[in-house]
Amino acid sequence: MEKTAELILDGKSYKLPIIEGSEGERSVDISSLRNQTGYITLDDGYGNTGSCQSQITFIDGEQGILRYRGIPIEELAEKSTFIEVAHLLIFGKLPNSAELRRFSDLLTANELLNEAVKYHFEGFPPNAHPMAILSAMINASSCFFPELLTSEMRDSFVVQAARLLSKVRTIAAFAYRKSRGLPAIYPKPDLKYTANFLHMMFSIPYQDYDLKPEVVKALDLIFLLHADHEQNCSTATVRMVASSRANLFASAAAGVCALWGPLHGGANQAVLEMLEEIHKSGDDGSKFIAAAKDKNSGKRLMGFGHRVYKNYDPRAKIIKKACDDVLTKLHISDPLLDIAKHLEDAVLRDSYFVERKLYPNVDFYSGIIMRAIGIPVEMFTVMFAIGRMPGWIANYKEVMETPTRIYRPRQIYTGPTLNHYTEIKDRK
Ligand code: CMC
Repeated sequence: MEKTAELILDGKSYKLPIIEGSEGERSVDISSLRNQTGYITLDDGYGNTGSCQSQITFIDGEQGILRYRGIPIEELAEKSTFIEVAHLLIFGKLPNSAELRRFSDLLTANELLNEAVKYHFEGFPPNAHPMAILSAMINASSCFFPELLTSEMRDSFVVQAARLLSKVRTIAAFAYRKSRGLPAIYPKPDLKYTANFLHMMFSIPYQDYDLKPEVVKALDLIFLLHADHEQNCSTATVRMVASSRANLFASAAAGVCALWGPLHGGANQAVLEMLEEIHKSGDDGSKFIAAAKDKNSGKRLMGFGHRVYKNYDPRAKIIKKACDDVLTKLHISDPLLDIAKHLEDAVLRDSYFVERKLYPNVDFYSGIIMRAIGIPVEMFTVMFAIGRMPGWIANYKEVMETPTRIYRPRQIYTGPTLNHYTEIKDRK
């Protein structure tokens, strides 16, 4: 028997269907609510709103569970690679050898930017933020692919996905080189995805960057851990834009803009700046914690708290361990890591954070790894964007393959009621 919820409004009873997910998550389907009752729902920040049904990523925030296509993040972090995971997210399965080879070949075939795209970089001022360059250049590079403008893209979706995933890494590296006044370094077809990115970031025309396996592995892990996270702000943005049938590149560029904010992907840069501020002030973190608890200070403890996780973010656990491993292997002792661990200890014992269930999130330790492997702080959020690209592509594909109406929320209007135009001479 179909389960329903009963809603009583103005003395009348309505039956609303209950929709259950494959992991037992339950929802009340209100899609006919306005038609039936004249009411809409109001949910500030969408904390209680399921905007879609999706088969890509599962999160249980209370238990700290994250799975991509059913596979626990811990298993993927230990055994897989970013590109395998990208295939898993976008196409729904781990690739077999032939599929992986084909996908890797497509990534290699699409790694170059059209030379004309390169000239667009010249227009940015020297210290332009790489996230601004990234979103602009994703859109600019789409202009070279007229087939993106047709909606008949299913057959070529693997090509489109590989093109975006591959080019975004070249754009990101070129953006960094431009921001530092350095010459662009072209990709090398014999290098794998993450190694190739590091090569484009750090080689110089007369000397190749020394690709240390532990550095490549650490960055690949960071990409993998960021690869998807269901309906967060940027992914919901990508789906919103996709629902208007905008092309893949335009939708992903919108995702980059949403990710940039300090409450979302920009938090990794903000965490490092916070740790540096604490370090420079000579404080052990206590003053910053006190300020973060004071609503009037305008400060938050960056890298703590999450809309969905009310437990330790499973990605933070993996990153914390990777952080220790990488710093040990590279013989780096970073005072910011000591401050971070001290902050975490203090916060997990502090009733303000305990009562609000605020735990370290993915951004808390990732910056320390990126700093150790030489990624400049202004590029941290770009690393998040490269990592999140498979999730955005998978969500874009899901929107295109599922009959979806254009996303169009409603509002409760609270402005002036009917008012009339006043001539300028009569205005106060
Ligand atoms: N420091 C101090 N207080 C906090 C923090 C924090 N980092 N996060 C939440 N709170 C407090 C908040 O003031 C509120 O207190 P009260 O109930 O007394 O008003 C309560 O905890 C609930 O917070 P909220 O803002 O309603 O929670 P939210 O779900 O809207 O926000 C968040 C989630 C991640 C935006 C928020 O926790 C935050 O701003 N954290 C710092 C930024 C950060 O690390 N962002 C990265 C998120 S993970 C990666 C990603 O998805 O991008």
